[in-house]
Amino acid sequence: MFSDYVNTITQGDCLKLFQDVPDNSIDITFADPPFNLKKKYNSTNDSLLLIEYLKWCECWLSEMVRVTKPSGSIFVHNIPKWLTHFTGILNKIAHFRHWISWDAPTSPMGKTLQPAHYGILFYAKDLKQNKFYEIRYPHKRCRKCNYLHKDYGGKKSGLHPFGPLVSDVWTDIHRIKHNKYRDEHPCQLPLHLLERVILMSTDKGDVVLDPFSGTGTTALAAKRLGRQYIGFELDPEYVRISKEKIETELPNSQINGIWVSYFLEQIVTLRDIDWIRLSNYFFIPRQTEEIDHIPIVELSKNYKAPLIRKPFNRFSEHLFENVESENIFDN
Ligand SMILES: C[S@@+](CC[C@H](N)C(=O)[O-])C[C@H]1O[C@@H](n2cnc3c(N)ncnc32)[C@H](O)[C@@H]1O
Repeated sequence: MFSDYVNTITQGDCLKLFQDVPDNSIDITFADPPFNLKKKYNSTNDSLLLIEYLKWCECWLSEMVRVTKPSGSIFVHNIPKWLTHFTGILNKIAHFRHWISWDAPTSPMGKTLQPAHYGILFYAKDLKQNKFYEIRYPHKRCRKCNYLHKDYGGKKSGLHPFGPLVSDVWTDIHRIKHNKYRDEHPCQLPLHLLERVILMSTDKGDVVLDPFSGTGTTALAAKRLGRQYIGFELDPEYVRISKEKIETELPNSQINGIWVSYFLEQIVTLRDIDWIRLSNYFFIPRQTEEIDHIPIVELSKNYKAPLIRKPFNRFSEHLFENVESENIFDN
């Protein structure tokens, strides 16, 4: 029964499991399928003939669109080579919104331009009804002196106090580098990538489905953000690892009731509509120059409460006015 799949990872072939999922029942679907690059998965042949691979992809892409609600979104992560094929399939059954370029370098291949990004296709089931929230990421700063990396010339007063709106090029989320943060899986995605996708396209309680769940990154992100999740995964060992991780996680990726994605005491992604509410709890610089070297957003060690509390002041109201009228740095 469909309800048995909610808030768990189910072991099995996604095409079979999809049959139990009703039409228009899921808020977002996110897929990170095998790339057919001869990766060493436990249970998957990652070396199909081109025609076989594309035929198989068409089947699960169609299922993703079928189960997604009219207000929902479909996300597909892959290398550009395969995404060019996927757009041909998806353009017929859903509506293109974005090709997100995720800056994530790979090892040198020779005799080719160095591949330095993955793509995430972002499709709406119905453009008019599509749920979407603008999101922000923090200004890039020097780790030591906290100075802003970018030179904004004389226009600093127009800066958003927290950071720019997220564009369709994501350079601030990195692949998992250290083995101690990795599961026994050849291509685990970083949690913050999924948290960003979920924050911009869903609300609390919405259902997120990942048909190639791996070691459960999407489910974990959904749970941390108070969403419901459905994961399908062929390999029993990856299912076991996922369940172990998800069980101990709580829906607590929030500050004062506001859902955010954070890492190492810094917010990674924040919804634009939540900034005004959240800014009451952060230090807002008094003079324009201070924006350069004061940690505007810093979280406490236990990640639950902000470190610096100061009341919303007149200067910050002025900053927000500038942002609305000029909005020069956002895109
Ligand atoms: C690229 S990995 C996904 C990694 C995942 N995003 C994570 O962060 O852990 C693809 C996964 O799909 C699984 N898989 C392959 N074929 C499948 C199928 N037919 N049904 C369900 N899962 C499948 C593989 O076992 C593998 O774990």
